Amino acid sequence: MEKTSPPDNTENLAADLTVVREYLDRAQTPEHLSAKEEAQCRQQLIELMNRKNARLVAHYYTEAVIQELAEQSGGFVGDSLEMARFGHDCDADILIVAGVRFMGESAKILSPDKKVLMPTLEATCSLDIACPIETFAPYCDAHPDRTVVVYANTSAAVKARADWVVTSSIALDVVEHLMEKGEKILWAPDKHLGSYIHKTTGADMLLWDAACIVHEEFKSRGLQNMRALYPEAAILAHPESPEGVLELADVVGSTTQIIKAAQSVPNRQIIVATDNGIFHKLQQLAPDKEFIIAPTAGNDATCRSCAHCPWMAMNTLPTMLQALEEESSEILVEPQLARQAMTPLQRMLDFASEQQLMVKGKA
Ligand code: 13P
Ligand code: SF4
Repeated sequence: MEKTSPPDNTENLAADLTVVREYLDRAQTPEHLSAKEEAQCRQQLIELMNRKNARLVAHYYTEAVIQELAEQSGGFVGDSLEMARFGHDCDADILIVAGVRFMGESAKILSPDKKVLMPTLEATCSLDIACPIETFAPYCDAHPDRTVVVYANTSAAVKARADWVVTSSIALDVVEHLMEKGEKILWAPDKHLGSYIHKTTGADMLLWDAACIVHEEFKSRGLQNMRALYPEAAILAHPESPEGVLELADVVGSTTQIIKAAQSVPNRQIIVATDNGIFHKLQQLAPDKEFIIAPTAGNDATCRSCAHCPWMAMNTLPTMLQALEEESSEILVEPQLARQAMTPLQRMLDFASEQQLMVKGKA
């Protein structure tokens, strides 16, 4: 596998992490709602969503109360592929995307006629930050012989430069398909997912060098120690985790695939290497099992609550209510760019349908 040293994006990343730290400092005290305030907020949101024909689409990493609200109000909770599909297929006038910016942008690209709101536009992703179009486009230009496959955790501009967009639930299948056609791949931005796919398929892949700051914190040494403590436990890991962690895992998959595996593996104890927001759905669907978060090093500057994405944590009921009331925090994608980005995104959705990787609803 050809490895690469793409341009240094650390300055960019540091600037955005500062925004996250500042936001978390501000958010620490005022955010807590009493049970009564929370119930009022939920009720107001439900009424407003009905009145405005709005639907809430939430990721598994968001707060439990947001996931519950999405399901209770006729919206959806899922992984990033399912969120994109639901947003595209539902007949709402307004989509509220509780997740991170790339999820809102994908929803807008796939549904240009819908208004897409987010509780905050500050919620981004370290993978998106570390793959700016200004450095990515010339890198692609330098490798014209390669099919450009980008992870969904990227900006609209990066998607527009790609031949394929994939999410973690479909990335392996797409790369296998391309490999069978004899294509060489330029993969961006997640190096861990890229190297996992390369190891699994043997595809010829050039890898961009970026990682998820949350999954990067899971360490194989700690996981080995934990396995010694829980020898009967199964290990389920998201493919954004480092190679050593994935090697120890019994199942590697997207958030939905982890949830499905948790229900089907015979083990009663399950060690989970992904964002701890997923525990809400895991406990709901497999109440008899014991879920244990994989150990993290916890050294990263944003790691206020390790194994939890600081950007996902920016989604709250009050900010969601405000966004819907004011129809603010709207995701806008420049139409020409959106049309270009639609092609590789739609290619993924069509491929998913053809492969019968159908999204049949909640995990
Ligand atoms: P999924 O596609 O598995 O939902 O993952 C999205 C993500 O950002 C994981 O960190
Ligand atoms: Fe991005 Fe990681 Fe957060 Fe997922 S968990 S949105 S990959 S920073």
